[in-house]
Amino acid sequence: MEMANAQASGIKPDREKGIIMNRRIFLTKLAAAIGTLSITNVMAQPHQMGNMPMSGHGMKGMNMSGQNMGHMSSSGGNLLPESALPKNLPLPELQSLVNTSSRPGYFFSFLEAKPVTLQLTPEVSTEFWAYNDQIPGPAIEVFEGDTVEITLINSLPQPTTIHWHGLPVPPDQDGNPQDEVLPGAEHTYRFTLPEGSAGTYWYHPHGHETVAEQAFRGLAGVFIVKPKNDPLANIPVQNWLMSDLKLAADGQIAPNSMMDWMNGREGQFVLINGAHQPQITINTATRARLWNTCSGRYLNLALSDADIYLIGTDGGRLEQPHKLTSLLLTPGERAEILIVPKKSTQVSLKALAYDRGKMGRHAPEVTRDLASVVMTSAALPTLPKKLTTLPQLGEATATKTLEYTETMAMGNGQHGMNFLINGKKHDMNRIDLTSKVGEVEEWEIFNNSHMDHNFHLHGTQFTVVNYQLDGRTRAPDYIGHKDTINLRPYERVRIKMVQNHKGLRMYHCHILEHETLGMMGQLNVV
Ligand code: C2O
Ligand code: CU
Ligand code: CU
Repeated sequence: MEMANAQASGIKPDREKGIIMNRRIFLTKLAAAIGTLSITNVMAQPHQMGNMPMSGHGMKGMNMSGQNMGHMSSSGGNLLPESALPKNLPLPELQSLVNTSSRPGYFFSFLEAKPVTLQLTPEVSTEFWAYNDQIPGPAIEVFEGDTVEITLINSLPQPTTIHWHGLPVPPDQDGNPQDEVLPGAEHTYRFTLPEGSAGTYWYHPHGHETVAEQAFRGLAGVFIVKPKNDPLANIPVQNWLMSDLKLAADGQIAPNSMMDWMNGREGQFVLINGAHQPQITINTATRARLWNTCSGRYLNLALSDADIYLIGTDGGRLEQPHKLTSLLLTPGERAEILIVPKKSTQVSLKALAYDRGKMGRHAPEVTRDLASVVMTSAALPTLPKKLTTLPQLGEATATKTLEYTETMAMGNGQHGMNFLINGKKHDMNRIDLTSKVGEVEEWEIFNNSHMDHNFHLHGTQFTVVNYQLDGRTRAPDYIGHKDTINLRPYERVRIKMVQNHKGLRMYHCHILEHETLGMMGQLNVV
């Protein structure tokens, strides 16, 4: 029962019971473990590779079937059974980050990134890397126009940064890989959020080649920017942060398998606000903010017996609600929806099977239950004629083209996949593209590969102009502010945006394994 309560309030450390290990012992153990976890080591270990076919296969025809990837299976090792974590406990609320400033319009606080051992059940105790000892990290809620100062204390055994995903903060405050904070050091991020930036954002690490690991060990939290005048203020809100967790049989966070590096990590658990298949209660028409903070898992969400309207995308409200039958949220994407239960019943929130063209032998895609939802029928609330007014960017006066490709990586004892943008792997010392402050640009991104990848650009929001697939062009179903967007295999998407700050911006696939392996580029805004 005690455990049930702990679970119901999210995953939090139990200091009283002395579960947090002596930190120095813990860090030493961890440092030893990390040696075996770095990407290059994993890539170089032949037993991790499962004898990938070394020749005779082009990427399109590559099939790591049967013998080749046999013992890797989709999981890459012995995992804890799904039944090991309880389900159906009440959905925990996200814990808020406390504002230490009493000045109106200011939000001051700190986030300490550090290893912490959490007792998930009486039998399962797991070492996470967490912000302020919380999984997920504390929720930051501010208003547009606010000035934010957050000090990162790095108590991890490796360098890190905090990146404010989707927020229009200056590049030198955005936690780029170039601006790492060393272990034991602190750094204060400062920015003022402009009017019109209300939306559903998040924060996570963005160090050099460490993002995948730091994210799968637990470092992520939500960042909500509320509008000063909210026409929907009288409709209750719920926050659902969806994350992925992969636990080895001993209850520890499993390292990435070769399959995880290729396809994007997917664990055996999907958590909402840190809880496994929780029970959600919806008593009335409700707004829900949704985050997919998973490393590689696509969530094709569906809920029966309710009318669902999309009312906001990554960077804010749509002008009009858009009725949905399902909602694909790829890693990094967010949405704000309005849920209007049609009857009083209990249903499950599902992630429908979605084929994203994974490589190699992997388990078939299945529909998963993410939560059970107890709902009470409700009427559609009166909505304003317009939820917001999106600014018009005008004609683009510059264009860019980006192409995603995949190649086999071989030589120097390195085997695996290269995930490339315009034929190149990320290089911290190379500027790939240049834009001018204030200039409206249209980018065409072409996914020239057999697998879904998504695209994320730092520092601004964009809108979709159109999609092109199999020779057909289609307009988007709705216009909203996006910073992360999916591309089907061989799909092209054209997007329009403007950058408002000088400096370095990253763009990448938000399947974090692909990003970490180099599917990332650097834009210099001048
Ligand atoms: Cu959420 Cu560069 O990423
Ligand atoms: Cu980002
Ligand atoms: Cu990708």
